[in-house]
Amino acid sequence: MSFKTLNDADLKGKRVLTRVDLNVPMKDGKVTDATRIERVLPTIKEISAAGGKVILLAHFGRPKGAKVPEMSLAPVAPAVAELLGKPVAFADDCIGESAKAAVDAMAEGDVLLLENTRYYAGEEKNNAEFAKELAANGDIFVNDAFSAAHRAHGSTEGLAKLLPAFAGRTMQAELEALGSALSTPERPVLAVVGGAKVSSKIDLLENLVSKVDILVIGGGMANTFLAAKGVNVGKSLCEHDLADTAKRIMAAADKAGCEIVLPADAVVAWEFAANTKNETVALDAIPADAMMLDVGAASIEVVKAKIDAAKTLVWNGPLGAFEIAPFDKATVAAAQHAAARTKEGKLKTVAGGGDTVAALNHAKASEDFSYISTAGGAFLEWLEGKELPGVVALEKA
Ligand code: 3PG
Ligand code: MG
Repeated sequence: MSFKTLNDADLKGKRVLTRVDLNVPMKDGKVTDATRIERVLPTIKEISAAGGKVILLAHFGRPKGAKVPEMSLAPVAPAVAELLGKPVAFADDCIGESAKAAVDAMAEGDVLLLENTRYYAGEEKNNAEFAKELAANGDIFVNDAFSAAHRAHGSTEGLAKLLPAFAGRTMQAELEALGSALSTPERPVLAVVGGAKVSSKIDLLENLVSKVDILVIGGGMANTFLAAKGVNVGKSLCEHDLADTAKRIMAAADKAGCEIVLPADAVVAWEFAANTKNETVALDAIPADAMMLDVGAASIEVVKAKIDAAKTLVWNGPLGAFEIAPFDKATVAAAQHAAARTKEGKLKTVAGGGDTVAALNHAKASEDFSYISTAGGAFLEWLEGKELPGVVALEKA
């Protein structure tokens, strides 16, 4: 990977179009999780301190080219300002007169947030005219939105072709962390993949078996693999129609020398509810009327041993129904074990995608992980081995 970073950029006095991901969870007009804002602060501060004019470009939700008021970025500007510790101006359009007027009014070091880029259909269509209109307000482009890099949009991919383009500090950190986990990792590499369905992660599993040494499969998706091996999984979540896919993945793993680790026992219950009656059973004793909601104590010991054997761990998805007690037990135990090994300096841990961050936060393990990505879809596509257009555009810039 080779791309320019802020080290290579001459920022003083420049209008710096800075793509960030401010697609943050909100409730009643307030940001409920500011992680993504916090992640882009270093880049904003650095550009501002160097005398650049920081013009933030971002999307919010999926308004599909319409000016949907509920998807305005206006309420996000004060949240950024508060965490940044300095004012953030807001323009109610990302192109045209009002954007230009707001940019013209900026002094060196100022920060301005432009309205949702997805208010224009040209954003998602990566329309060249739209990208040109965005580019008209900037001298250089900084992309700090890894989590939107799987989208070939005007403000991610298009701008990188029109202006001198640089990776922001978060983009840089993300690419370095992910690269050191899968491209040039210290082996053995262990992947822990969980979540509900195999169907959403087929490409991901196929890519991982060719890259990692050990693959632990947990969560609902493990049931599909167990069923394919002849285990009677009772009423468990299971995609029986994917038995052949599961077999194909297991055969590919065999061929690549990747060890697949499936649950060794199961915690079963008769309803999906917190603190409902449950039992730990052997795999050949899953009651026909019960469902697996977590892996059992024997499985936890196996996962811990695999963590001990590994030098690098990539984690995506929970091992059980971690949202409801006590079916969070395996996820919490494994996450805490991985966090402890990381803290001891024995393991590099990279996690991301979907529910993963919530699961690791729940386990109070996040702080000790080496790197936690705030990306959802982009992290998954990266695990699938796909090229991310937003990143490719920076490499070519
Ligand atoms: C995300 O929330 O994953 C990113 O902001 C990308 O959003 P999108 O899935 O709507 O493209
Ligand atoms: Mg998404």
